Order: sequence, then structure tokens, then C-alpha cells
Amino acid sequence: MNHLLSSRDISKQEILKFFKKADKFLPIVLDKKKLKIAEGKILATLFYEPSTRTRFSFETAMIRLGGAVISNADMNATSSSKKGETLYDTAKMVSTYADIIAVRHPSAGSVEDFASGSSVPVINSGDGPGDHPTQGLLDLYTIHKNFGKIDGLTIAMVGDLKNSRVLHSQCELLLNFKNLKFIFVAPKGLEMPEEITKMLLKNKFAVSEMQDLKAAAPLVDVLSQTRIQKERFGSEEEYKKYRGIYIVDSNLMKICKKNMILMHPLPRVDEIDVDVDSDSRAKYFEQVSNGVAVRMAIIAKLLDL
Ligand code: NCD
Repeated sequence: MNHLLSSRDISKQEILKFFKKADKFLPIVLDKKKLKIAEGKILATLFYEPSTRTRFSFETAMIRLGGAVISNADMNATSSSKKGETLYDTAKMVSTYADIIAVRHPSAGSVEDFASGSSVPVINSGDGPGDHPTQGLLDLYTIHKNFGKIDGLTIAMVGDLKNSRVLHSQCELLLNFKNLKFIFVAPKGLEMPEEITKMLLKNKFAVSEMQDLKAAAPLVDVLSQTRIQKERFGSEEEYKKYRGIYIVDSNLMKICKKNMILMHPLPRVDEIDVDVDSDSRAKYFEQVSNGVAVRMAIIAKLLDL
């Protein structure tokens, strides 16, 4: 089955093809138009974890392709999973209704379990701290659109490097490019998992770790900021140790390069000051429209449209 479960499964050739397709779909997104290429097809979005962008983005993508959507934003509370139905059985059933399924779940690996029961393509829309391949792709698309390339850039990843599935996905996808320099900015305890750092070093990328965002900021082409992932901590106290630790504000932007870009998958809590939104280097709202175009490209590929 033609699923999209892991960032590792996407080749460079596929990444570049998604970018090309997304370039074609982006004007449809920006002009709020609708195509007919997915007419008669149904996307199911099953979310076992909160979401605003990702679910709406998938649904907008399917509707703009001309397809239709069935959706449950709160599977844990209102679906038969509350009665004890397994992911496997839910998948068997929903794949009878829908032609493609986007699933988000709080535990790593669970979307793969779901896919084992599905007879239609399944898209991992975030599995706990594991992976979030469509977000990673739209982030790389945003980098590529802004620089015309990815090779050779210096990329700082900032915040909750341990739990951010978005950064994990970015790293996996960036393995397909060359001569990258990574600067990981995280407090003690929230560092990038060792297996990811090792994988980047094996790919001959330069990796340095810092705790001081001010020291990293002037060096980077891409600053990839993240939220401290409150829901992954054992207690509120544990979370409070880290909250607000790295804040990008207009003073920090003053010491950044003129042509760098600032990305964030959103939602933000306090890690980017709203004053920064009007800075032309802030790309987090551009990421939102790029995300719809990229997801249109992904749905079109998986459905062979
Ligand atoms: C991210 C997620 O859910 O992993 N958001 C998103 O998909 N746009 C990031 C986050 O929740 O911090």
C-alpha cells in the first residue's frame, strides 16, 4: 500500500517532485480556487490529538483538489476507540468509506499500526514525539522557495529538540541534501535525541550544540523555532522549568542575517514575540499556505491523480 508514514521513506527525487507539484497548486491555495481532479474521492481525517492547522490544512487541500472530507477531530472522546476498538479495526472500517486517511495519534508508531488495517493510503499527520512527515516537507518547501536551494545552508533548531516531531522530520528529510550545518539550541534535558545527531554526523554534516540562542542567531540562514511540547512532560512543574526559555523578539532579529528566515510550525505560546510577525524574514504564516499546497501534492500523488 502506498502510505506516507515516515520521513525516512521519502527520497530526494520524491521531495523535489512534491516541490514542483506544490508550486503548481500554490496559486490555487492563494486565490482560494478549486480544481476537479479529486472529484468523487473522500479524505478521512482521524485525529486522536489536538490540532488546528494540520487537520484543516489536509481538509482544505482535499476540498481544493475537488474531493470531499469526513472528519473526527476528537477520536479519543467521541469515536469507538472509547469503547475499546483497536486502531486496526478502525482502519479496516474507515478505509471502506474513504479513499485516503490522515491520522494523528499521541504515541509514536501508532499510525503505522493503524495503516496495517487500512486498504487505502494512510498519511502520518503526527505520531506523538515520533514523526510528522507532511510538516517536515512543507518546512523544506518553505526553505527551498526562499533560498532557491537547500544545500549548503546553516540551520539552527531551537527549543524542545527532544520532543519536537517536526524537527525530527526536518532532520530526516534534510539527510537528502548536502553540506548542511546544524546548530542545536536546547536546554539541558531537551537535547536532540542521540540517534538523530549520529545520523546527521554520519551524513558528514557539521553539528554543534549550544545553549545560548544569542550566540547562534547571527550564524544562521534558517532559524527553526519550536514550542516546548507541554503535553509530553510528566508534570506541570517539569514543563515550567523550560517554558519561555528561548524567545525570539525584535532585538534578537536585529542580530540575525538580513536574508535569513525564521520558521515555526505553530502553535506558538510565547517563543516568538508578535512584534516579529511584521519582519519580512518571519515565514510562519507563509508556511501555512505552503502547507496546503504541499498536502495537495501529497494527496494527488498517493491517489495517483
Ligand atoms: C506541530 C505538531 O503538532 O507537531 N504543529 C503542527 O503540526 N503545525 C508543532 C507543535 O504542536 O508544537
